[in-house]
Amino acid sequence: MVFLHKIFQMKVTKIACIGAGYVGGPTMAVIAQKNPGIQVTVVDLNEQRIANWNHEDLSKLPIYEPGLAEVVAEARGRNLFFSTDINKAIVEAELIFISVNTPTKTYGKGKGMAADLKYIELCARQIAETATTNKIVVEKSTLPVRTAEAIKNILENNSNNLQFQILSNPEFLAEGTAVADLQNPDRVLIGGETTPEGQEAIEALVQIYNSWIPRERILTTNLWSSELSKLTANAFLAQRVSSINAMSELCEVTGANVQEVASAIGMDSRIGNKFLKASVGFGGSCFQKDILNLVYIAKSYGLNEVADYWEQVIILNDHQKKRFAENIIKTLYNTVSGKKITVLGWAFKKDTNDTRESAAIYVTSALMEENASIHVFDPKVEKHQIIGDLEYLNVHTSEEINQFLSIENDPYTACKNAHAIAILTEWDEFKTYDWQKIYDNMMKPAFIFDGRDILDVNKMREIGFVVYSIGKSV
Ligand SMILES: NC(=O)c1ccc[n+]([C@@H]2O[C@H](COP(=O)([O-])OP(=O)(O)OC[C@H]3O[C@@H](n4cnc5c(N)ncnc54)[C@H](O)[C@@H]3O)[C@@H](O)[C@H]2O)c1
Repeated sequence: MVFLHKIFQMKVTKIACIGAGYVGGPTMAVIAQKNPGIQVTVVDLNEQRIANWNHEDLSKLPIYEPGLAEVVAEARGRNLFFSTDINKAIVEAELIFISVNTPTKTYGKGKGMAADLKYIELCARQIAETATTNKIVVEKSTLPVRTAEAIKNILENNSNNLQFQILSNPEFLAEGTAVADLQNPDRVLIGGETTPEGQEAIEALVQIYNSWIPRERILTTNLWSSELSKLTANAFLAQRVSSINAMSELCEVTGANVQEVASAIGMDSRIGNKFLKASVGFGGSCFQKDILNLVYIAKSYGLNEVADYWEQVIILNDHQKKRFAENIIKTLYNTVSGKKITVLGWAFKKDTNDTRESAAIYVTSALMEENASIHVFDPKVEKHQIIGDLEYLNVHTSEEINQFLSIENDPYTACKNAHAIAILTEWDEFKTYDWQKIYDNMMKPAFIFDGRDILDVNKMREIGFVVYSIGKSV
């Protein structure tokens, strides 16, 4: 134990991060930027992704986030490295972040609910087999509560008498504001064992964050609180979206205005004014996956009422996407067959090129099922990604996708001769378009369905549009 004690007291000089995705990439870039004395190596199995992280042209980085290119430019090649040599990074590092994906299981027990931990387990096994010295292993991925126990088991049973300390350090960044969130987080959460070695490992990670984050904003807890806090945070955030979205439907039938209701309740300091924006529904890789995971965990402990409570957040979100698509069909005289419908925005939110679980995918699919001709424009999402999202949904054949889907490079062309426009991402540039010009070139009546509540409804109606805006009566 004395030996262990010394190892974890050591100051960290080399960090590895397994997983160069939306979390691993930006998080390590900022850690490297703020700790020029620490070597940070981000590794991934995906060669193309690593090549893009190493691309000379910073506009080719695999992830778009405001401010990210500047941070990478500052640290890359100095103390930030991207590589596919996972074993080398493991051997060298004293501290290893695991930041791989933890999607919902698509097979076997817990299918459609539980988190698929196979990528996490593979990392743990690779660390165990490769490491030649004791390591601090940090869970950066979002994981079910008590996963650290399993990771420790795998590590200690498969390595050559090495000691491992497992920490939970969930990431709270929001895509679209990832760099700002990382540079100035509300808090950093670190969970670890309550033993002296656990506390020393926690302290080693605290030191890394403390180089730019005040100590009082670095929260330390036991492992299980930390793991569960991440799932809880996402569940609460998603619940607020579903709560305001539930009210949006009620607003539409009663003549209330959801923006006014949100302002009125948001001024109550007990409620607060953030995350009260009604929309076509939340997307992103996390909210749905993490709530399903929470539901699964609650059920596995026999807590059925707890599970049902949280599941309703997902049910309402699915309903919101479905009713948005149904409203388009109903408003266009109950048929969209052969009609050109323009989808503005494919990313799940503005300022990111991430499209995972984006509402646009589901709305488009529902309209394609009715044989609508969909024309998509998104300022940051590439054509192959949009097609890939629809293929992944596994609802439409390639022929159908070819026949019913067109991807446009210009918003005005995308809207030309359209019967209707659906706004599905809140990109700021949509607000500044020449809407008169768009109106003039559309079929009449010119319908617009604002799924993000970003347009000035009165102005649009003055131009001549027939406007449907979430949470406002027509
Ligand atoms: N995206 C977010 O906003 C966000 C925020 C907080 C937490 N999280 C959590 O962080 C985790 C990662 O999310 P992400 O969005 O970065 O995922 P991602 O899919 O963008 O990135 C994961 C990367 O891990 C790589 N990978 C998988 N297995 C590997 C292995 N064995 N060895 C090397 N590389 C491997 C993949 O190739 C991929 O590039 C998830 O658990 C997620 O829930 C995500």
